[in-house]
Amino acid sequence: MQTIPRDPSLDSTLDVVREGFPFIWNRVRGLHSDIFQIRLMGQRTICLHGPEAAQLFYDPARFVRTGAVPRRIQTTLMGKDAVQTQDGAEHRCRKDAFMSVMTPQSRARLMRLLAHEWQAAAEYWAEQEEIVLFDEAQEVLCRAACAWAGVPLPNKDARRRARDFWAMIDAFGGAGPRHWRGKRARTRTEDWIEGIIKKIRKGKLEVAEGSPAHVMAWLRDADGEQLSARMAAIELINLVRPIVAIATYITFAAVALHEYPVYKGLLRTSGDEYTEYFVQEVRRDFPFAPFLGARVREDFTWRGCDFKKGMLVLLDVYGLNHDPRIWPEANVFWPDRFRHQTISPYNLIPQGGGHYDTGHRCAGEWITIETLKQAVTFLNTGITYDVPAQDLRYDLTRMPTLPTSGFVMRQVRPTGQAA
Ligand code: HEM
Repeated sequence: MQTIPRDPSLDSTLDVVREGFPFIWNRVRGLHSDIFQIRLMGQRTICLHGPEAAQLFYDPARFVRTGAVPRRIQTTLMGKDAVQTQDGAEHRCRKDAFMSVMTPQSRARLMRLLAHEWQAAAEYWAEQEEIVLFDEAQEVLCRAACAWAGVPLPNKDARRRARDFWAMIDAFGGAGPRHWRGKRARTRTEDWIEGIIKKIRKGKLEVAEGSPAHVMAWLRDADGEQLSARMAAIELINLVRPIVAIATYITFAAVALHEYPVYKGLLRTSGDEYTEYFVQEVRRDFPFAPFLGARVREDFTWRGCDFKKGMLVLLDVYGLNHDPRIWPEANVFWPDRFRHQTISPYNLIPQGGGHYDTGHRCAGEWITIETLKQAVTFLNTGITYDVPAQDLRYDLTRMPTLPTSGFVMRQVRPTGQAA
C-alpha cells in the first residue's frame, strides 16, 4: 500500500483562502505528486490533479456528489438540491432536461437573440463617454438569456436582474457581505422565477414547447413526481445565470485582444477555426472554476492509495489547465496551440470533464464557446473603440476573479458589421 503525500499544514482551509486558484497546483509541484491529502475544515480530504485523476473523478461508480457541495455554495451559486448535487437516476433525469435545450436549433436561437442585443448595446455605447464592458456584457447576456429561456424581462428590470445573477456567482468564493449579497440575490431571483413557473403551470403564461421555461416547468423527477415550483425555478435559473457568467470570459477575451493585438488581424483573416482556438485559449488560460468536489461512493484503491467511503475529494481545475506537461508554455496566451493539441474529455476542463449526458460536465459548454466566438468577433469587427489606461490585472486569490477595471472602453462606434 502506498501512502498519499500529506500537506504539512494542520488544516489547509486558510491556505485555500490565501492562495486561491493555484492552491492545489502549488502543492502538486511542491510535493511532486498528482495526489495528496490535506485537512479541510477538519475533514480529511484528497486532492487530485491531472487527466488520469480527472478520469477517475468522473467515474460515477467511484464518486457521488451528494454531500460534496457546501451549503454556502448551494444557497448562493447553484440553489439547494439542484442538478449539480444529484446522483444516479435523479441526476440523469434532470440532466436529460438540461441537454434537451442544448440542440443546435435552440443554440442558434440564442445566438440570434444575442446578435440583436450586441447591436442594440453598440448603439447605446456610442452615445456614452465610456462604458465598462463587464457590466454591459452582463446585461446583454441577461436580456438574451431570458428571452431564450421564455422568462419575461421588462426593460426596466434588466440591469438589476443581471446584477442579481452576478451576485450569486460572485458569492461562491466569498464570505461576509459578499456571501450575504449573493444569498439575498438568490432569494429574490428564486421568488421571481417561481412566480413564472406557477403562471406557466396555471396557463397564465404561454411559453413555447421545448423552451427552457417549458421544460423546467413540467419536469418530473425520477419517480415521476412533478418538481416543486421552487425546484423547477432553481433549475431554470441554472440555465440563465451561467449565461450571464460568460460576461467574465468576454471581459478576459477583450483583455487578450488588447494585450496581444497580433490576434486581431489573425482573427479577421483566419476564419472561424481560428476564432475557436482563440476562445479555447481564453477558457484554458483565464481562471473561473478553481476546483470541484465529490465524495467517495465506496472504499476503493487507486494507484496503491486508499479512498475511504464518504471522503471528500477535490479535482484541480485551474492547475490542470496550466500544467506544462499537457500545455507547453502553459503561462503564455497562445491560441495556436490548439492547431495541434488533442482535446480529450479530461485534459481541458474549465467547465468540468467527462461526458455531458452521463456525468456532471457543464451542460452549457457549447453555448459558452459559441457565445464567446460571437462576442470576440463583435469586439474585433462589429465595433471600434479606444482603451484608456486602466488596471487590467486580476487577483488569483479572489474566486471568482476579474480584471480590476472591468475593461473600460471609450469612443465606441458600431461598424455596421453584424455580430
Ligand atoms: C456545471 C463551469 C456556463 C449550465 C458546470 C461545472 C463547471 C461549470 C465547472 C461543474 C462540472 C462538474 O461538477 O463536474 C461553467 C463556466 C461557464 C459555464 C466556467 C461559463 C462562464 C454554463 C452555461 C450553462 C451552464 C452557459 C447553461 C446555459 C451548467 C449546468 C451544470 C454546469 C446545468 C450542472 C451539470 C451537472 O451537474 O450535470 N459548469 N459553466 N453552464 N453548468 Fe456550467
